[in-house]
Amino acid sequence: MRLILLGPPGAGKGTQAKMLVEKYNIPQISTGDVLRIAVREKTVLGIEAKSYMNRGALVPDQIVIDIIKERLKSPGCENGFILDGFPRTVAQADALTRMLEMIKASIDYVISIEVDFHEVVKRLTGRRICRGCGKGYHINFDPPKQEGICNDCGKDLFQRDDDKEETIKNRLEVYKRQTEPLIKYYNDKGIVKKIKGLGSMEEIFNDICQQLERD
Ligand code: AP5
Repeated sequence: MRLILLGPPGAGKGTQAKMLVEKYNIPQISTGDVLRIAVREKTVLGIEAKSYMNRGALVPDQIVIDIIKERLKSPGCENGFILDGFPRTVAQADALTRMLEMIKASIDYVISIEVDFHEVVKRLTGRRICRGCGKGYHINFDPPKQEGICNDCGKDLFQRDDDKEETIKNRLEVYKRQTEPLIKYYNDKGIVKKIKGLGSMEEIFNDICQQLERD
């Protein structure tokens, strides 16, 4: 199964992607994660991407298209994948269609997680990530057992640079302008599943699975 997870920053794409990986045994491909690793490792890609990410802007299309092109060739993607954070523009979506056509494949479903902007601001400002294993938490909605410490590996938790309130505002504007039009783009192809993103993580996950298994 080839899936795209669409939704505003903080909608829960990463959270749901990890749960879908477990259930369907297909890899999660997150352009945000790939870019953050490159920034941390100070690679050429990371140095270029950092300035865009820190102000909540999109990294140029060709950079992320090349990342996905390489990733889709790697072992494990033959039987499907979950794209989390890609595509984010019409140019990226068109490039993805062309990439998949080369291997006679296509996207099965686009899961559009709908959450209002007020809620996503609460989610993003409270998000914390483990410095060791990368596990995500929320200080109110999904707190670690011990404040500031990862349940799994015991390392400390940090806040993403782009989860500061002033950057969040810009990310949401960018989403509205450049990414939201993709809902119509894929709706016209008849493959969008709209999911209400309010409720517990498990409730939302069950809703996604039900919708995927309905067809
Ligand atoms: P990226 O990492 O993709 O960020 P994003 O799309 O802004 O999404 P987030 O990771 O912020 O949120 P999410 O929807 O995954 O939510 P999560 O599950 O973590 O991209 C970052 C940057 O990289 C971009 O701004 C851009 O610069 C660049 N980039 C990436 N891809 C690009 C591309 N294709 N083109 C160009 N540039 C690109 O949940 C959020 C919080 O809410 C967590 O704390 C979680 O615990 C909590 N939560 C989740 N579900 C619930 C729930 N049901 N109830 C309560 N809390 C919940």
